[in-house]
Amino acid sequence: MCGIIGVLGNHEAAPILVEALKRLEYRGYDSAGIATVNRGALARRRAVGKLANLSDLLVHEPLAGKSGIGHTRWATHGAPTVGNAHPHKAGSVAVVHNGIIENFKELREELSHKDIRFSTDTDTETVALLCGYHMSQGLDPVDAARTTMRALEGAFALAFLFEGHEDLMIATRKGSPLAIGHGDGEMFVGSDAIALAPFTDQITYLEEDDFAVLTRSSLTIWDKHDMLANRDMRQIVLESARVDKDGHKHFMAKEIAEQPVALDRALNAYTNTSGDITLPEELDFTKIERLTMVACGTAYYACMVAKYWFETIARLPVEVDVASEFRYREPPVPAGTLALFVSQSGETADTLAALRYMEGKAHQIAGLVNVAESSIARGSDVVLPLHAGPEISVASTKAFTCQLTVLLMLAIRAAQQRGMALPEGMPADLRSLPGLIHQALATEQQVKSSSRDLAKAQDIIFLGRGQLYPLALEGALKLKELSYIHAEGYASGELKHGPIALIDEKVPVVVLAPRDALFEKTVSNMQEVMARGGKVILVTDAEGARLAGEGTHEVIVMPQVPNTLAPILYAIPAQQIAYFTAIAKGTDVDQPRNLAKSVTVE
Ligand code: F6R
Repeated sequence: MCGIIGVLGNHEAAPILVEALKRLEYRGYDSAGIATVNRGALARRRAVGKLANLSDLLVHEPLAGKSGIGHTRWATHGAPTVGNAHPHKAGSVAVVHNGIIENFKELREELSHKDIRFSTDTDTETVALLCGYHMSQGLDPVDAARTTMRALEGAFALAFLFEGHEDLMIATRKGSPLAIGHGDGEMFVGSDAIALAPFTDQITYLEEDDFAVLTRSSLTIWDKHDMLANRDMRQIVLESARVDKDGHKHFMAKEIAEQPVALDRALNAYTNTSGDITLPEELDFTKIERLTMVACGTAYYACMVAKYWFETIARLPVEVDVASEFRYREPPVPAGTLALFVSQSGETADTLAALRYMEGKAHQIAGLVNVAESSIARGSDVVLPLHAGPEISVASTKAFTCQLTVLLMLAIRAAQQRGMALPEGMPADLRSLPGLIHQALATEQQVKSSSRDLAKAQDIIFLGRGQLYPLALEGALKLKELSYIHAEGYASGELKHGPIALIDEKVPVVVLAPRDALFEKTVSNMQEVMARGGKVILVTDAEGARLAGEGTHEVIVMPQVPNTLAPILYAIPAQQIAYFTAIAKGTDVDQPRNLAKSVTVE
């Protein structure tokens, strides 16, 4: 979602702001803008669409000044127009904002009684106008921004820049992340450390409700009680903020290819030298009677797979829900509940709100996150980092397989602690995962040719059974978000309860089915599809291909895999199908339309 950058520097700010905004592109946006103060005067440039449009504008209408703020906007209130793009300016203040001001209508009403006029459809303009109003009433910039911030409801990260003040910036957050970067006689603000990586590796993360005043040489932070606060300055590993495609055409291709290495890292992080699974000590499954897992999108599908593992391997009752539903249905929380929140970004607004709901109710809160400094990590009693490395492409790939891998290790550890017998070969077989994924990646050519056909379809169905059912959902999600083709995932056995009415020769059906105990049942479902003219693309192993018999349109042959590991391996063709279909359709793979990487609004 929206990205924020700010600089109080010693060099021209505009190129720095644009470079940082490029590093925030992955979050998803539809317009961008910057503002600088130069010789006291505040000026801004804004453009709709890609950052290249803003860069072109800056060539024709350059913006001087060494202090500035910048923004990539993912439209929530008001269409993506130049007028609605940030920074918003009112009188002598300019503001960039990530999040949603929930009481903006009330504030607008109050301001309109003071004869203050609005010129945009955004909630953010209210912030600028309110701050401008307080300044017009005699408050200095710091007090005006502080009074403004205290009046806001909702989720926000904000940076303020002021006319006549070239050595002053204000940054504040509630619900949305914000990082301060310490340079050499310079100071930076960014939505994340990735944006700041070219300029500094010294980062201070603002905490909930912090209000920070920056100059080139100082950072002063007040907490939610208006008390001066000490926040650590940490050195981030710059490698972890590296953003390049490493020779691949897209970040998604790079991230798919990286999975053997990412999984190896995740396995190593939770295994000791004897190959035993090691978890943080405070996570003790002998004290857990029930597991509640909450997440959104792809992370939710990882939880759905893990439900099979926790229930069958560890015999632990599991509840799984999407965060946007869970947070509002006020579920009772039985004693002994471990609440596990799964999120790549660690900032997803709904997942974070669900975590807040569980505070004080669950026995323990655990966060499985890729971004170790994220809000979900900070709100968890136990943090389980994914170690996937930065995921830049909007569509989640390596984070998903790392989520599955760590969740499987958790389920195995839970089984061990609860005295349950482990599936044959576990946990030793886990070590075969990176190699198996490597082999699975080699089916790329086959997937590529199937995808050319899929790109011509208007509707595609994915089927899976048991622990592969969530993979059918994930395959459909990935395909629709990247190629904009309508796709649905179903449990194979559900087909004849309705969806089979959709089947004809124009609707391809992708069946994810390793040869397992339920394979014959899936073959019957395939026959039902083929009898109605449906084209089946079967993703299976060699044994499955042999048993499936005649009639399938195509068969993609995967390596043989221990049963328990199949969902992790079958994520690869699901990702590749989406990737190559999107390539065939010519869509924007890394930044699909309307989507954002980190969904910080509900
Ligand atoms: C799909 C995708 C999304 C995310 C979802 C949750 O490819 O990436 O569905 O999985 O928005 O995001 P996180 O994991 O950051 O909470």
